[in-house]
Amino acid sequence: MSKAAALQIRRAEAADAAALAPLMAEWFLAAYAHASDAANTGAFVAANFDRAKQAAEIANPDIVTLIAQSDGELAGYAQVRFATPTPDCVDEADACELGRFYFAPAHHGRGGAALLMDAVRAAARERGRRWLWLLVWQEAPQAIRFYEKQGFAKVGTAVFLVGEDRKADFVLRGIV
Ligand SMILES: CC(C)(COP(=O)(O)OP(=O)(O)OC[C@H]1O[C@@H](n2cnc3c(N)ncnc32)[C@H](O)[C@@H]1OP(=O)(O)O)[C@@H](O)C(=O)NCCC(=O)NCCS
Repeated sequence: MSKAAALQIRRAEAADAAALAPLMAEWFLAAYAHASDAANTGAFVAANFDRAKQAAEIANPDIVTLIAQSDGELAGYAQVRFATPTPDCVDEADACELGRFYFAPAHHGRGGAALLMDAVRAAARERGRRWLWLLVWQEAPQAIRFYEKQGFAKVGTAVFLVGEDRKADFVLRGIV
């Protein structure tokens, strides 16, 4: 059995918040600590990845949090958001946001991300959405390459705030 085939994808439950929140912070910092200064990345982590915030997001009916698990350990996660404002460069009314999409560094390049993306598409389809859009830092070639392989294409730029640091992220759009 391949390593990716051993991966399980499931919806997050309330009890996952305690384990998920610190891993979200760890995986964000592994990927993006170098993208800004410590004050701004620290502010971003504090605002987004504490346990209470994750418990609230898991409970939010307008957010689907998906977890990828390998041998009982959390390996990655994604969030599909159904109530966020769509950027101006995305015209489609039946679009939703792929808000976060992360794997632990040890799981990169093992095929798990494609399985998680299948589950993201299924969650979007379940809610009648036909398009996904996302923001990605312009200097994140690995993530951009992955999204391109998944059929996403650049349609514009939008501001992503890391603390007070205004990043001009790419907006990518892909069909569900
Ligand atoms: C985005 C992410 C989930 C993709 O998962 P992954 O396992 O790396 O995906 P894959 O291995 O299928 O694809 C990555 C591609 O990037 C390529 N790549 C890796 N490092 C690269 C680099 N420095 N420059 C260019 N391409 C790179 C890989 O070779 C691969 O392309 P290939 O299949 O054509 O060889 C994972 O990289 C991740 O968690 N990154 C950190 C978090 C993140 O940036 N999330 C996105 C936020 S918008």
